[in-house]
Amino acid sequence: MSTAIVYYSQHHGNTKKLVDAIKEAHPEIKTIDITENRIEDLSQYERIGIASGIYGSKFASGLMEYLKEKMPTGKKVFLLYTYAMKMGHYAKDIKALLDDKNSKLIGEYSCQGYNTFGPFKLVGGTAKGHPTEDEIAGAVHFYETLL
Ligand SMILES: Cc1cc2nc3c(=O)[nH]c(=O)nc-3n(C[C@H](O)[C@H](O)[C@H](O)COP(=O)(O)O)c2cc1C
Repeated sequence: MSTAIVYYSQHHGNTKKLVDAIKEAHPEIKTIDITENRIEDLSQYERIGIASGIYGSKFASGLMEYLKEKMPTGKKVFLLYTYAMKMGHYAKDIKALLDDKNSKLIGEYSCQGYNTFGPFKLVGGTAKGHPTEDEIAGAVHFYETLL
């Protein structure tokens, strides 16, 4: 199934580590860094992965804006994201956006990612060492178990 992963990973490249590992195991996937390439047409892909660090409890706003404009309707979608602190609600807004696009959410994977935002920098950051090798391997496994 033709698959693209659209990602935004600007803090420490934590989310990109998950995306890169999936791409390495499955080179046929198209990966798109939306800070470099706001690809116009996603309609050729049957399945679209959306990957982001969490910033202010949400997926990156630039990614959300891009998807609002460019996400085709009726696609199979999976989510990948990294955060400093595990909480339940980080994917709420992106899921609402995807609902509006009549997307079918087929899975989501998330884990911690090293964080030095704001005052956390002063204490050497939080979630150091994340994503770990196991967490990265977990993302590849997640991808391989998608329906
Ligand atoms: C501006 C900013 C806001 C952040 N907000 C949150 C947050 O609300 N909750 C959280 O758990 N982590 C937060 N983080 C930490 C990031 O989600 C975490 O480091 C993530 O792995 C970054 O992914 P990236 O390296 O792919 O950009 C924030 C980081 C930055 C830079």
